[in-house]
Amino acid sequence: MREAEYTTAQAKVAFTYNSRSPRTDPTHGRRPHRARLPNEQTRHQMVNAIQPPSQNTTTRPRISFLGCGYLGATYAICFAELGYEVVGFDVDAAKIESFNTGVLPMHEPGLPELLKKNLESGRLRFTTDVQAVADFADVHFICVGTPQRKGEHGADLSYIETAVVNLSKHLSRKVLIVGKSTVPVGTAQWVQELVDRHAPEGLGVEVGWSPEFLQESNAMHDVLRPNRIVYASQSEWASQLLKDVHRGILELAAVEDREVPVVETDLATAELVKVAANAFLATKISFINAMADLSEAAGADVVDLARAIGYDQRIGNRFLRAGIGFGGGCLPKDIRALSARAGELGVGESFRFLDEVDSVNTRRRTHTVRAVADLAGRTSGPNGPDLSGVRIAYLGATFKPDTDDIRDSPALDIARRLRSARADVVVYDPEGLENAKAYAPELSFVKTLAEAVADADVVCAMVPWEEFRTLDPEALGRQVAERRILDGMNAFDPEQWRKHGWSYQGIGR
Ligand code: UGA
Repeated sequence: MREAEYTTAQAKVAFTYNSRSPRTDPTHGRRPHRARLPNEQTRHQMVNAIQPPSQNTTTRPRISFLGCGYLGATYAICFAELGYEVVGFDVDAAKIESFNTGVLPMHEPGLPELLKKNLESGRLRFTTDVQAVADFADVHFICVGTPQRKGEHGADLSYIETAVVNLSKHLSRKVLIVGKSTVPVGTAQWVQELVDRHAPEGLGVEVGWSPEFLQESNAMHDVLRPNRIVYASQSEWASQLLKDVHRGILELAAVEDREVPVVETDLATAELVKVAANAFLATKISFINAMADLSEAAGADVVDLARAIGYDQRIGNRFLRAGIGFGGGCLPKDIRALSARAGELGVGESFRFLDEVDSVNTRRRTHTVRAVADLAGRTSGPNGPDLSGVRIAYLGATFKPDTDDIRDSPALDIARRLRSARADVVVYDPEGLENAKAYAPELSFVKTLAEAVADADVVCAMVPWEEFRTLDPEALGRQVAERRILDGMNAFDPEQWRKHGWSYQGIGR
């Protein structure tokens, strides 16, 4: 684990904090002070000689994170690791109990170890008691969900409203409330109005905004070592507090000889940065998926194409993996909410392309069902294909590998569509089985890869878990009834599989 290379104690020694405004100096003046990584011996001495960071004499505000989902929980745990005193709040008592007993109620690599370590350090705890949270923290981060509104494209802000109103009523001193959830632009202003209405009069509670960019499955790394920090405040007081809150991240960066750019901006821009980033990423994926359609029609290979254009640094080679489309709790709903908000603000026309990005993405699902039918030798009628009697070994249910999150998972949706086409779909996923079972009880679930592939007529490899990417065509071939594979991950070498007698179908190749 990369995190083992770092202790906050080392960071404290190595970092010289410079309080120049990040607006004029995005490196926080760290460039001249870039610290070198200590060698093994000095590292050892530092660990033993330095007080734990909780006794750091520099200003470290006490922090709360309201909402302990993938986002809030990761932040709470990582900020405790960075040396801050932290409390995580959630209304779900079972979840809070789980955190407090050191059991992470979700799958996220590296986080269980960090949870245990920081509970033991005494810097981290979780509670359902909002009064305790209000009394404890100087800075409260709002990390609750902002799902898509039922039957609409806009974001549902009711969890934000509940969290903010509830917290505000219990406050008894001036604090900073900072939004982290992904929201429509203009939300921060509305949150300030809520606070003004519900906090005791005269406290002067302020609202700031600081979007997050963590990717599930890499969440711990993204919080401890972000590629940028963005925040917005409404006063010098709040700006200083935000600087103090992020100091731990900059200290760690200095110790590791890295730069973390800081963008301090206004509230509306901070809100927009997040949705703009997600919309851009979604557009990139739909672009390559559109190219996949064209490649299939023209007999080209989209994997080679993506590699070739990705060498141009203006394009870059990441987020150009064609496949079954993007899913998860963020990208799909964020592009819809952005488009809806743009419409409300009178600039909807400029964002029509996002509706197409969305359509290209959801069309992957019908496209993939057709590809499976083709492999199985079934033709599609006006009502889609009839796959009765076809046993499908279905590998992957989560929206991407290394998570148990199945929110808007393309893989799971396609599995359901195949089931609707009367296929016998046997699903295996390394971590997502429980969540998938609760969501799609009509599917069959098995606990091992071997059970899934036994006697299969078609293998659908849908989510690029390590366990699937490393499948051996010959060994797998001995377990299935028919050597037919749909590579929804575009992870295999088609020639290799064909050499071993497989009918191979990728996406866009
Ligand atoms: C996304 C963003 O990447 C984060 O920066 C952001 O903080 C987060 O949303 C959020 O808003 O909270 P995440 O939803 O965890 O992160 O997942 P990604 O790694 O972005 O993947 C999203 C989907 O795109 C997955 O279904 C993945 O399989 C798919 N994808 C990704 C592709 O189909 N092709 C690619 O090349 C890359």
